[in-house]
Amino acid sequence: MVFERAAHDYDADVHGIPFFRPLGRTLVSAAGVRPGEDVVDLACGRGAVLIPAAEATGPTGSVRAFDLAPTMVALTAADVAARSLPWATVAVADATNPPVEPASADVLLCGMGLFLLPDPVGALARWRGLLRPGGRLAVSVFGAPDPLWSRPDYPLRLATGLGAADRRPGQAILAEGALARALTAAGFELTRDDLVATDLVFRDVEHWWHWAWGTAVRSMLEKVDNADLPAMIDDLTRWHAPSVDAGGLHWRPTIRIVTATVGAPRG
Ligand SMILES: C[S@@+](CC[C@H](N)C(=O)[O-])C[C@H]1O[C@@H](n2cnc3c(N)ncnc32)[C@H](O)[C@@H]1O
Repeated sequence: MVFERAAHDYDADVHGIPFFRPLGRTLVSAAGVRPGEDVVDLACGRGAVLIPAAEATGPTGSVRAFDLAPTMVALTAADVAARSLPWATVAVADATNPPVEPASADVLLCGMGLFLLPDPVGALARWRGLLRPGGRLAVSVFGAPDPLWSRPDYPLRLATGLGAADRRPGQAILAEGALARALTAAGFELTRDDLVATDLVFRDVEHWWHWAWGTAVRSMLEKVDNADLPAMIDDLTRWHAPSVDAGGLHWRPTIRIVTATVGAPRG
C-alpha cells in the first residue's frame, strides 16, 4: 500500500508545504468538537485531524484513531505520546469496518480518506451506527481537481500508465453530489457541504516532486527510472509553465468539507 511506503515523508515539515495539517484543523473546527466528547478519527495518517481533535476534547474526552498503514500508526502513536495526549489512542484497523462499539462516539471524523476505501457508501452506513443519537460526522475529500494536474495526457500518467489514485473504486464518491446523496441514503442529515479553495506553492517541479513522495502520487513517482528523471522533470516543467508565477508553481485543488448529523431513525 502506497501510504505505508509514504509514511515517513507524509506531510513532512522539511518541504515547507502545509496542506494536510491546516485541512485537519479545518475539519475539527467544522465538526465543532467540544471538551469531553468521544471522537473517532478514521484513516488518521500522521495525525492531521487526530491532534487538533485531541486538543479540542481535552482529557475529559477521548480520541480513538485508526489507519491501515502500520508505519503511519507507529509514527503517529509516537507523536501523540510526545505531545502528552494520553486520551488519544492510535491503532491499525480498516476504516471500512473499524473496531468501535455501536453508538459509542459523539463525533466521527475522516480527513482525506473516504475516497480511498473500496466502498465509501457502505462505510458511511456502517459509520452512522457508531455514533450516539445526535452524533456528528465530518469528512473532507478532494473537490474539483486542478485541471493542469488531472488531464489524461499529464506526462507522468503517460509515462507510468498510472493515474495516481484516480482509478480506485472509491473515487466515484468525489463526483458532484455523490457524497451528499450517500450520506442521505445512510440516514444522515447533511449540515454543511462546502468547497474550500487551496493554493500550494512550490519553488519548482523538483520541489513538488520531493513533496509528492509523501502522497499517493508516490505510486507514479516510483515507476520513473532514475535515468529518465531529468527528462521527466523537463517535461513537467514545460507542462506546468502556465501555473508558474513570481511566487512559484501553484497547485490549486479544491477540498470538499461535509458535515452531517445522525438523523431520525428511518422506517
Ligand atoms: C491522504 S491520507 C489522510 C490522512 C489524514 N487523515 C490526514 O488528513 O492527513 C489517507 C490515509 O488513509 C489511510 N488508509 C487508506 N485506506 C485505508 C483503509 N481502508 N482503512 C484505514 N486507513 C486507510 C492511508 O494509510 C493514509 O494514512
